[in-house]
Amino acid sequence: MALRFLLLASCSLVAMASAGNLYQDFDITWGDGRAKILNSGQLLTLSLDKASGSGFQSKNEYLFGKIDMQIKLVPGNSAGTVTAYYLSSQGPTHDEIDFEFLGNLSGDPYTLHTNVFAQGKGNREMQFKLWFDPTKDFHTYSILWNPRHIIFMVDGTPIRDFKNLESRGIAFPKNQPMRIYSSLWNAEDWATRGGLVKTDWTKAPFVASYTNFNANACVKASGRSSCGPAKSGWWNQELDSASHARMRWVHKNYMIYNYCNDVKRFPQGLPPECSIA
Ligand SMILES: *[C@@H]1O[C@H](CO)[C@@H](O)[C@H](O)[C@H]1NC(C)=O
Repeated sequence: MALRFLLLASCSLVAMASAGNLYQDFDITWGDGRAKILNSGQLLTLSLDKASGSGFQSKNEYLFGKIDMQIKLVPGNSAGTVTAYYLSSQGPTHDEIDFEFLGNLSGDPYTLHTNVFAQGKGNREMQFKLWFDPTKDFHTYSILWNPRHIIFMVDGTPIRDFKNLESRGIAFPKNQPMRIYSSLWNAEDWATRGGLVKTDWTKAPFVASYTNFNANACVKASGRSSCGPAKSGWWNQELDSASHARMRWVHKNYMIYNYCNDVKRFPQGLPPECSIA
């Protein structure tokens, strides 16, 4: 009984669905007025000019969830700019789940860069083109994070499935709550064509927009009891055969880079998860 009480008391997670008001879910963290929440909390914009970028972070820390955000990326010549949208915990052995959008010249495709860090170790980059122009309209970028999978999705199409392979000795993010962070910043040294194309400041300010945030997630909140009610839907979700087929379509047609194919980069052998289907 005493043990049971202790376990309950130490697990300060509460299941929560959140939708709608960006004021409720996020704090603007930097940019000196360049980041704005507008339309009574329905829209958030980040902007970047020569002096500074800008960013925001979630008020909550999450430990597992299905987290959706609609983003419209910097239109026109966005070369040199990076819009980062990611989950991260704190500290030297942090966990992290990344979406990063690398801008490009007008008419050239954005690169969607993804990565997963577990206990401080990343080096798991996969990059994609998109099958639409991400600057014309809002599109939904989702992270489905449960104890067995981290699935990256774009408009509901899975593009990446990072599996829990702890049984094979590979770390998986599952103990450290993460906040959501996003920023728009200048990365002209490397972002576009490896740094060959620089930011054109005559096109500033550059603006990225966010709307329709939805988190069906476990939220860390002191004093609350458990994550129990969240254990439905996304908690047990994994890719069915139709979703696998969609992901294969993305990998075949839109994948630009996969660390698991980069033999030169890992002369001692590819990371172990690469040889486990
Ligand atoms: C930008 O466009 C060029 C030309 O199509 C392409 O090679 C590159 O991968 C694109 N993305 C970035 C981030 O440079």
